Amino acid sequence: MTAEQPRHYLAVSDLSGAELQNLLSRAAEIKRQLHAGNPPALFHGRVLAMVFEKSSTRTRVSFESGMAKLGGHAIFLSPRDTHLGRGEPVEDTARIISRMADAIVVRTFAHERIEKFAAHSLVPVINALTDHQHPCQLLADIQTYVEHRGDIAGRTVVWVGDGNNMCNSFIEAAERFDFTLRVAGPPGYEPDGQLIASSGARVELFHDALEAVRDADLIVTDVWASMGQEEEQARRLADFAGFQVNAQLLSAARPDALVMHCLPAHRGEEISTEVLEGPNSVVWDEAENRLHAQMALLEFLLAS
Ligand code: CP
Ligand code: NVA
Repeated sequence: MTAEQPRHYLAVSDLSGAELQNLLSRAAEIKRQLHAGNPPALFHGRVLAMVFEKSSTRTRVSFESGMAKLGGHAIFLSPRDTHLGRGEPVEDTARIISRMADAIVVRTFAHERIEKFAAHSLVPVINALTDHQHPCQLLADIQTYVEHRGDIAGRTVVWVGDGNNMCNSFIEAAERFDFTLRVAGPPGYEPDGQLIASSGARVELFHDALEAVRDADLIVTDVWASMGQEEEQARRLADFAGFQVNAQLLSAARPDALVMHCLPAHRGEEISTEVLEGPNSVVWDEAENRLHAQMALLEFLLAS
């Protein structure tokens, strides 16, 4: 770590393609070591602070468990317990925590808030989800694809549903990992326009899910109403009718197409139970890989 300018991971594009590839190889190695019951003490004496302003199961447990398994310590900080929740400025919080912890994980609402946090932090800041990006999930997703099918370069990935934080991170991943991304959703729910514009021909928008998934290698979906959009749930249920990942949709993809969902899933809404629990689904591996991919990310950032 260089004290003045630490590397942060706020978006997939913060790492180069080569760095991401190396990181995922390392994640696979850490996974093998953990499964063999031989975890490396990578983070001995290191402290990870985890600032969460939204709920989490996978992200919290993967970071906290990973730190413990690899010899370090994690401190979970909810807004109920810190002065951040009582209005202490982000800038002050970042400056103080970063004098005591070796890295900081932040889950929050506006992306600008984590950017401000990172700008005032002396140590690496990792985006554990904002309204705009979810880059840690992408590491696990690509790791999972590679485990099951090999290199994702040149493949066709189809995002079905809301053009949300996950979708935006998939757009960045398409550029870094060199795959084609089709995004299928109803009009008005497209992902970030600037990201699409800078992705060139790599990202295509569809308003017809069946057309989009033709010959897909990977189908990905996510909830129709993200955290913070709960009051829009009823309207979104109506607007997203026709964009459920179900057996009929899956039958239009390649027979060996994988299905991913970052979870939590709403069975019967964005995905049918049959597909979520079916043979094409790799959602449980995807969730487990959060742990290995993020430990490799932490190792990389702490060494930068
Ligand atoms: N996929 C994911 O980030 O899950 P959590 O919200 O449970 O952390
Ligand atoms: N898009 C979802 C992802 C949850 C992991 C949300 O932001 O709530």
